[in-house]
Amino acid sequence: MKIGVAGATGRVGRHVVDVLEGRGHDVVRMSRSSGVDVITGRGLAEALAGAECVIDVASGPSPDQKAATEFFTTEARNLQEAGKRAGVQRMVVVSIIGIDRFTAGYMAAKVAHERAMLSGPIPISILRAAQFHEFVAQLVDWGRQGDVSYLPKMRTQLVAARTVAEALADLATDPRSAPAPGSAAAPILEIAGPRAENLVDAATRFARRRGDRVRIEGVSNPADPDSALYETGALLPGPNATLAGPTFQEWLDSGSAA
Ligand SMILES: NC(=O)c1ccc[n+]([C@@H]2O[C@H](COP(=O)([O-])OP(=O)(O)OC[C@H]3O[C@@H](n4cnc5c(N)ncnc54)[C@H](OP(=O)(O)O)[C@@H]3O)[C@@H](O)[C@H]2O)c1
Repeated sequence: MKIGVAGATGRVGRHVVDVLEGRGHDVVRMSRSSGVDVITGRGLAEALAGAECVIDVASGPSPDQKAATEFFTTEARNLQEAGKRAGVQRMVVVSIIGIDRFTAGYMAAKVAHERAMLSGPIPISILRAAQFHEFVAQLVDWGRQGDVSYLPKMRTQLVAARTVAEALADLATDPRSAPAPGSAAAPILEIAGPRAENLVDAATRFARRRGDRVRIEGVSNPADPDSALYETGALLPGPNATLAGPTFQEWLDSGSAA
């Protein structure tokens, strides 16, 4: 099957490409570094020609609400319109567990992303994932000020990007998972790791494994109206979620963090 992957070089996108190619599919990489821009539309029609399905794992450069909303809504419109013209049958979108309780920031941008995707003509499957094991490194680097890294106080059921990629590939290639054309309510599925983690604790273990003596400090942002949600478990999976390893500790022990 020919499958387009938007965001093919990203934290989860590179695993999506690897998993699909390992299963013998014809993968079209879509990212600016491979000549396809989902915002300007450069290379999009050529990339989607003959594709049956698109997996959307792209993300813009900024986590700021306004910039991220602009990115995701533009990307969704372009993928839907170019996909329709190219005869794409369905799309699989990665999102984030718990977003519909959030009102601000990147989470609100992801709500806009889901809505924009669902409002297009091509049927959509949404997989909401927990924060990736690989994302912890990014958070430590973003929060660093000298010898301290300030991270949001957060409970999260961290999951490996590879595990999410396998679930996205399953959704893209199993016709039984596709929503019926024209169905109003696309099924929203969840995937998370096997156990809930305290982000500060996980980040401290990650930094030590990397040989980094940085002190990790958990902070609440009083300016964020959703601050309490991060701390009280709104990002944790619901009872019907798929839970799949490795745990964060198993992932660290496997050397994958390097
Ligand atoms: N990170 C997490 O913990 C997490 C958890 C749950 C869900 N998610 C969701 O998973 C998705 C991917 O996240 P990620 O962390 O894997 O992202 P990432 O590592 O930042 O990768 C972003 C990808 O998007 C591509 N991209 C950016 N601008 C583009 C453009 N204009 N046209 C085409 N491609 C573009 C990038 O490639 P180029 O720079 O080469 O264009 C890259 O391949 C996002 O929707 C995110 O919300 C992430």
